Amino acid sequence: MTSFIDPKSVPQRKLYTGDYMPAIGMGTFGSDRFTPEQVSEAVAGAIRSGYRLFDCAAVYGNEHLIGEVFQNAFDKGEVKREELFITSKVWNDMQGRGDVLISCAKSLKDLHLDYIDLFFIHWPFANYHAPGCDGDSRNPDSKPFSADAFMETWRQCERLVEMGLVKHIGMSNMTIPKLEAVLPLCRIQPAVLEMELHPCFQQPELFDYCKAHDIQPIGFCPIGSPSRPERDKTDEDIADVQVPELVEIANAHNVHPAIVCLKWAVQRGQIPIPFSVREQQYVGNLKCVTEDPLTDREMGIMKSLDRNNRLIKGQVFLWEGAKGWEDLWDLDGVISK
Ligand SMILES: NC(=O)c1ccc[n+]([C@@H]2O[C@H](COP(=O)([O-])OP(=O)(O)OC[C@H]3O[C@@H](n4cnc5c(N)ncnc54)[C@H](OP(=O)(O)O)[C@@H]3O)[C@@H](O)[C@H]2O)c1
Repeated sequence: MTSFIDPKSVPQRKLYTGDYMPAIGMGTFGSDRFTPEQVSEAVAGAIRSGYRLFDCAAVYGNEHLIGEVFQNAFDKGEVKREELFITSKVWNDMQGRGDVLISCAKSLKDLHLDYIDLFFIHWPFANYHAPGCDGDSRNPDSKPFSADAFMETWRQCERLVEMGLVKHIGMSNMTIPKLEAVLPLCRIQPAVLEMELHPCFQQPELFDYCKAHDIQPIGFCPIGSPSRPERDKTDEDIADVQVPELVEIANAHNVHPAIVCLKWAVQRGQIPIPFSVREQQYVGNLKCVTEDPLTDREMGIMKSLDRNNRLIKGQVFLWEGAKGWEDLWDLDGVISK
């Protein structure tokens, strides 16, 4: 019997639209470790456990099975559609004038939904690479960020809102210079920004920028993605769950260090979307934000753990002439060309 955490005990975040979303959700990217069947089975268990937010994407290749799980849960009366907050994302090869609508229509059909709560532009450029490709692979057609090209895609996202197919729209993997370039052009502002956030990569400037602009941060890789594929690892990467100060806090609370990452994330104000197909883990990940919070002193220690250690560097999206993965993240404070 799956343990049930009352969704009413899970903190909520208010978006600028006045709508609320859960302060923690479940990621659904199985990468090359877990099959779509394993991920969708975990989603089914997670609904029964009390999860109400699911972070989906077309490129994760499992929306058709997750949709069956949603349909089943609705049919059995386990949950009502309006109690779930479901996201999806347009992948890089479907950006531009017409394809965003096609991508959203496919996600709606696959997910068995007639609206999506939050629809993202997954990456801020149309640079395509095949899922699971080698970290050294490059696409000769890749181009640097262009505000015009981005806005062409954003306009389609705005249309989805106007058509009632999507409730909110969001951006992902953006930087402050890119946001500065596009926010003044948006007719509908992004409700959220999905970005990498974990104790060793806190992105304080971008986090504060979002808060100042009423954009809710969603944190991916909240545990530091300890089991990500080798192609996404470098020798310099720090394993958040092994940082001694964090382990000490975990010991004081008698929990796994992963749990400390999640408590910290929710108490700081971002929405973490941890992934796991293991019931004990995903139940614990939800439960932990309803009890035994970190103290102010512990939150202070967590703040000091930032090492600016970006894990998902995105190098496969680089264009010809780019110096290195840093160019994707505008480290000089201007949009890299
Ligand atoms: N917008 C974007 O561009 C983007 C990019 C990346 C990810 N995402 C989203 O973010 C989600 C999460 O990212 P992620 O899976 O890379 O990283 P993560 O959530 O930081 O790490 C997931 C891994 O942590 C371990 N774990 C989870 N709960 C645990 C617990 N209670 N105790 C111990 N270990 C635990 C599991 O490893 P084991 O399986 O080895 O036990 C699991 O595979 C994705 O599923 C996806 O939805 C979005």
